[in-house]
Amino acid sequence: MSHPFDVAETAALYAKKSPQDILKLAFSHFGDELCLSFSGAEDVVLVDMAWKLNKNVKVFSLDTGRLHPETYRFIEQVREHYGIVIELVSPDPTQLEPLVREKGLFSFYKDGHGECCSIRKIAPLRRQLSKTRAWATGQRRDQSPGTRSEVAVVEIDSAFSTPERTLYKFNPLAQMTSEEVWGYIRMLELPYNSLHERGFISIGCEPCTRPVLPRQHEREGRWWWEEATQKECGLHSGNLIAKV
Ligand code: ADX
Ligand code: SF4
Repeated sequence: MSHPFDVAETAALYAKKSPQDILKLAFSHFGDELCLSFSGAEDVVLVDMAWKLNKNVKVFSLDTGRLHPETYRFIEQVREHYGIVIELVSPDPTQLEPLVREKGLFSFYKDGHGECCSIRKIAPLRRQLSKTRAWATGQRRDQSPGTRSEVAVVEIDSAFSTPERTLYKFNPLAQMTSEEVWGYIRMLELPYNSLHERGFISIGCEPCTRPVLPRQHEREGRWWWEEATQKECGLHSGNLIAKV
C-alpha cells in the first residue's frame, strides 16, 4: 500500500513544531477529509486552531448519551461560535438496548468500563472513522503519564486501520501542556465547558468523571474505581498496544 508520506520520519520532523504546523500538514495531505474529534472539553483549542486554517473543517463528537448537561451545552456553544457542523455520533441501539436491559445503566461500576465504552464510544468511533483516511485528536502527552507520555504528533492508527485502508491519526496538541492550553483559551477568550469552573480538568462521561483535588493528576478523576495507570477507554487504544 502506498503512503502519502513516511509517518515515522514525519513524526520526528514535526515533533517540536507548532500545533498549527501539524494541522497544516494534515490539511495539506487530506484536505476536508480530515476529521477532528472533539470531546467537549479543553480540546476546543484544537477546533479553534483548525477552524482558523480551514473554515470547512469537519468535527465530530461521540454522543455516548451519558455526557454532562454542561458538555451538551458547550458542544452547542462551540457549534454556534464557529458556525460549524459538529456531527454527533450515537451508539447503535441494537447493541445498547440489550446491555442496559441486562445489566442496567451503571454496569461499569461493577464489571469495568470496557463493555459500556465499547458500545457507546468505540463502535460509533469505528463507524465514523470508516468514512475517512485521517483524523485528529486533542490528545496530549501530559494527560496521562501511564499511557500518553509517548504520543506522536502523527501516527498510523493501529486500532482503527483496516487491511484495506490505512488510517492516519494526528495529535497536534501532543506537546502542549495543560498550562499552555489554558493560556491559549484565556488569551483568545475561547468558550470553555463550565465544568472546568468546578474542579473538573479531564472531562468524559458524567458517571465516569469526577473533579480532582488540588495537586491530584487530572486522570485520577476518570474511572477512579479502576486501576490507576492504564486508563484508556479504547478511543486511543493504540497507546496501550504501543506499550506492550
Ligand atoms: S478518553 O479516551 O480518555 O475519553 P480524553 O477525554 O482524554 O479521551 O480526550 C482525548 C481526545 O480524545 C480528545 O481531545 C478528543 O479528540 C478525543 N475524544 C475523547 N472523548 C471524545 C468524545 N466523546 N467525542 C469525540 N472525541 C473524543
Ligand atoms: Fe460508559 Fe463510562 Fe465509558 Fe461513558 S465513560 S461509555 S458511561 S463506561
